[in-house]
Amino acid sequence: MKFIYFNIKEYKEAVSMSEESYIQQLFAERIGGENFGKEDVIYKFEKIKRAKAAAKEAHPDVELIDMGVGEPDWMADEGVIETLYEEAQKWENRGYSDNGIFEFKEAAAEYMEEVFGVERLNPETEINHSIGSKPALAMLPSAFINPDDITIMTTPGYPVMGTHTEWLGGEVVNLPLLKENNFLPDLDSLTEDQKERAKLLYLNYPNNPTGAVATKEFLKEVVEFAKENDIVVIYDAAYAGLTFDGYEPLSFLSIPGAKEVGIEIQSLSKAFNMTGWRMAFVAGNPLVVNAFATVKDNNDSGQFKAVQHAAAYALRHPEITEETAEKYSRKHDLLVEALQELGFDAAKPKGSFYLYVPIPKGVKGGPEFENAEDFSQYLIKEHLISTVPWDDAGSFVRFSVTFVADGVEEEKRVIEEIKDRLSRDEFVF
Ligand SMILES: Cc1ncc(COP(=O)(O)O)c(C=O)c1O
Repeated sequence: MKFIYFNIKEYKEAVSMSEESYIQQLFAERIGGENFGKEDVIYKFEKIKRAKAAAKEAHPDVELIDMGVGEPDWMADEGVIETLYEEAQKWENRGYSDNGIFEFKEAAAEYMEEVFGVERLNPETEINHSIGSKPALAMLPSAFINPDDITIMTTPGYPVMGTHTEWLGGEVVNLPLLKENNFLPDLDSLTEDQKERAKLLYLNYPNNPTGAVATKEFLKEVVEFAKENDIVVIYDAAYAGLTFDGYEPLSFLSIPGAKEVGIEIQSLSKAFNMTGWRMAFVAGNPLVVNAFATVKDNNDSGQFKAVQHAAAYALRHPEITEETAEKYSRKHDLLVEALQELGFDAAKPKGSFYLYVPIPKGVKGGPEFENAEDFSQYLIKEHLISTVPWDDAGSFVRFSVTFVADGVEEEKRVIEEIKDRLSRDEFVF
């Protein structure tokens, strides 16, 4: 879990200026109790941020190449922006939207059918909007998890649903995503007790951070597994539209029987370059959708209707996603080729904007890397290339092909620059 919302140094200074406040004694155990904010552990993303700042200060004239960012470099489509502008001026759009407007749900049902071949969902009972998929993942455990119930998660991965499961007194079982298993979890490794107590199974494909995609065969197994063990599947499809090289966008809901066992969360953040707009939807099993809507209604009052109209426009223009995916595919090609030439075991993924690469052992005549964090720090400090390290199931770094580059020539230049910098080292694998 990430605790840090402030600059730690400033926070500590601000807190130590006064006598210890009684407020410090009141923090809930789930965020650290009376020790909240006092820990000296620096979390991964804070370390990256600091290393980036230090490298920039040490080499102010060298371009920092940021391959660590998990969000698109493009703006939202012009049509989406214009729709927002028009809809924002309408009196009827000014107020709370609660569980959402029908037009968006209808556009979502059409989108699922057109892009993923999902049999037409009922917009009223099988779809509900969410202010991004992150809040949906945060709220869903409230609908299911009692103390001691289990949520099965995959690691490395996006941890939000696990954090909230634990906050509710539940337990998380993490299944490792290993290269030898194509980064798919081994459901057979769960014990009888775990299967008995599990209520939720979280899956995310195309996957962050591995870039792996799911096969239909695997998803069929998931449906069987869920039915056999009475488990609800929460399928995080944040990158579902961003696929390439012949792998067609795949929805969990396109698998026979999937709607009986779970829901999918689709996000407009990555597929439509709309991270800041905060729009997503849950779709699938009406019992789960209704439970989600109930929890959500007790958390927020819905996204601004004008944003929902703009999002409906986006869903009716899936070519925006196709064009975006083409760009990522092209950037992946360039990066994979460059890393392979340098000796890295880099394989282009079939989806997402993440390239997940095993770390080298070290540099000839230079440092050895104990883990991915070591290697990632080295890349920032020595080469001003920012990546995200993962040491959860093997040691890998994640390169995001969301680095800013305006056009193909600029993309090539950035990749050449990376190659040039890294070729000064002789990596040992
Ligand atoms: C796997 C995964 N799920 C969900 C999210 C959150 O997306 P949203 O912007 O829809 O909240 C992200 C964002 O990085 C993600 O990587």
